[in-house]
Amino acid sequence: MSKKTILSGVKPSGIAHIGNYFGAMKQFVNLQNSHADVDQSFMQFFMIADYHGLNFIQNAKEMRENTLNLALDYLAIGLDPKKSHLFKQSDVSAHTELAWIFDTITTMPYLSRAHAFKDAEAKDKEISVGTFNYPMLMTADILLYDTDIVPVGQDQKQHIEYARDTAQKFNNIFGETFKLPEHLILENVATVPGTDGKKMSKSYGNTIELFATEGEIKKAVMSIVTDSGGDIPKNVYEIHKLFRSEGELAKIYEEHKGKYKNLKEALIEDIEAFIKPLREKREELAKNMPFVIKVLEDGANKAREVADKKLLDVKKKIGVSI
Ligand code: ADP
Ligand code: TRP
Repeated sequence: MSKKTILSGVKPSGIAHIGNYFGAMKQFVNLQNSHADVDQSFMQFFMIADYHGLNFIQNAKEMRENTLNLALDYLAIGLDPKKSHLFKQSDVSAHTELAWIFDTITTMPYLSRAHAFKDAEAKDKEISVGTFNYPMLMTADILLYDTDIVPVGQDQKQHIEYARDTAQKFNNIFGETFKLPEHLILENVATVPGTDGKKMSKSYGNTIELFATEGEIKKAVMSIVTDSGGDIPKNVYEIHKLFRSEGELAKIYEEHKGKYKNLKEALIEDIEAFIKPLREKREELAKNMPFVIKVLEDGANKAREVADKKLLDVKKKIGVSI
């Protein structure tokens, strides 16, 4: 079987939430465990997309803290540095270099169709060139590693289409160089709703944090918006589905029909049971930050080894490496 590569990333732009976990990060761990053990020919890279995050976090202290926090999150959910390479995007300069090369074969109208850009434009925000070029840096992230599978949530689907289109465009101009990646999006968790029923997102203030304390879980669940009609509070149920099978939920929701407070209490209990061991593991890991930093250094060394080789091939293809 030919070598398969899995790559994904998360921006260190805030505190990870259960939408990030169920939508994407859980798949990182599942892929790692189903493939790496049995078949050494799988390679997996999980990145902290700090240069993407720079569009949102422009404060050195916050960037440092968020980055180390995300590294801890990765380890606490079960990413194992013996099986997966964890690294910071900024440690591998080939990413930004290749993004520039892609910029030169990409048109402005094509990038103007990106959802993230259109959303920012609709909100009348001042849009940085980094936000506009965001899909090209992400394309470089993916293509540098000859990635086969990119596990993500639904909101990233278009970015992976950008990566496929750009790979094809480059291959047409300069000859066969890049593999076309596939997204992996799980239908039932493609868009996890937040406490207000809209997509859970760091930027909407509607999250349940992945490593929340019991008090924080209570506060978040109590804030879930419930409409007054109907026996089943939809927003509570949709989140509850992440933690229990629909069969089990049917019983609980029948028993507490119309009693929103009881149902919220049941949800708090289930979330706490799920988060507690993760939170404790993370607390343990946080006692040994030199280990966490070493994991990122080792990951960057491995990533550079693969990425630099690919970039050299690209430079030969475009004629700048003589
Ligand atoms: P956020 O939208 O909270 O800023 P990120 O952009 O850092 O999250 O996303 C990191 C990963 O988590 C991506 O793969 C993204 O698709 C996934 N993700 C984020 N929010 C959700 C959600 N509500 N449901 C499912 N997946 C999500
Ligand atoms: N753009 C992704 C997000 O906002 C993060 C990301 C950066 C990523 N580079 C990537 C995801 C490469 C998958 C592959 O969530």
